[in-house]
Amino acid sequence: MYKQLQQREMESPPVNVSTLREMKSNGEPIACITAYDASFAQMVDVAGADVVLVGDSLGMVIQGHDTTVPVTVDHMIYHTQSVSRGLARPFLIADMPFMSYTTPEQALDNAVRLMQEGGAMMVKLEGGRGQLGVVEYLAEHDIPVCAHLGLKPQSVHKIGGFRVQGRERSAARKMADDALALEEAGADMLLLECVPNEVGREIAGTIAVPVIGIGAGPDVDGQILVLYDALGITPGRMPRFVKNFLEGRDSVLEGLRHYVESVKQRTYPAKEHCFS
Ligand code: KIV
Repeated sequence: MYKQLQQREMESPPVNVSTLREMKSNGEPIACITAYDASFAQMVDVAGADVVLVGDSLGMVIQGHDTTVPVTVDHMIYHTQSVSRGLARPFLIADMPFMSYTTPEQALDNAVRLMQEGGAMMVKLEGGRGQLGVVEYLAEHDIPVCAHLGLKPQSVHKIGGFRVQGRERSAARKMADDALALEEAGADMLLLECVPNEVGREIAGTIAVPVIGIGAGPDVDGQILVLYDALGITPGRMPRFVKNFLEGRDSVLEGLRHYVESVKQRTYPAKEHCFS
């Protein structure tokens, strides 16, 4: 009972939205990674990750689909419950899967399920200007929201493949405007996927909430990777921004520590992981 009060006295108290905002203003990189089960969750916690995302990437790396489209709210709740049992310090975010936030009311119902049944502390949804109404409605109901811009894997069939976004000036401008609008609508965090370094730098420098990048260059407020990519488990050709942190390390825990340290010391992402 009153766990939050006891935890304030701890040397490393649990991360919350205020911690993440402070980290941004102090220039301390935020180390984020995905997890899908309790054992890995415990390990990424011990390795020092600040944020854990139960990503709908589970559709690909756990379920073996080619895209994230088949993932359902029930799948997300099952995995979020498992991860939340393994975590003590990191902040837990859960993805809202494809078509689970088509109206503000549907989004609220599903976000509440992810928080009440799953144990998520924030929900993430893909979208720009088209999602402003949903973000605003969730924020009005005190649901913490992370908005996902850049490459949006749930739109893969609409955009025709997984490719870098915001290369043209007009697209980069639109993305920066969307980021500002999402922040104004109440988003507490932004995830930026697969964009040129310059776009990542501009957006992170413009908005006040933390911007977490995946293939968005070094000048954002934090980095995230899909756990199985970071450990070299995912088979096949990897996107440019992926690095296998297990290579040359003796254990999974050491590999994960290597990832967290590389983010904290800004040695990851290096030039070869970036788009310019
Ligand atoms: O689903 C996921 O794992 C993601 C990644 C971009 C981190 O959203």
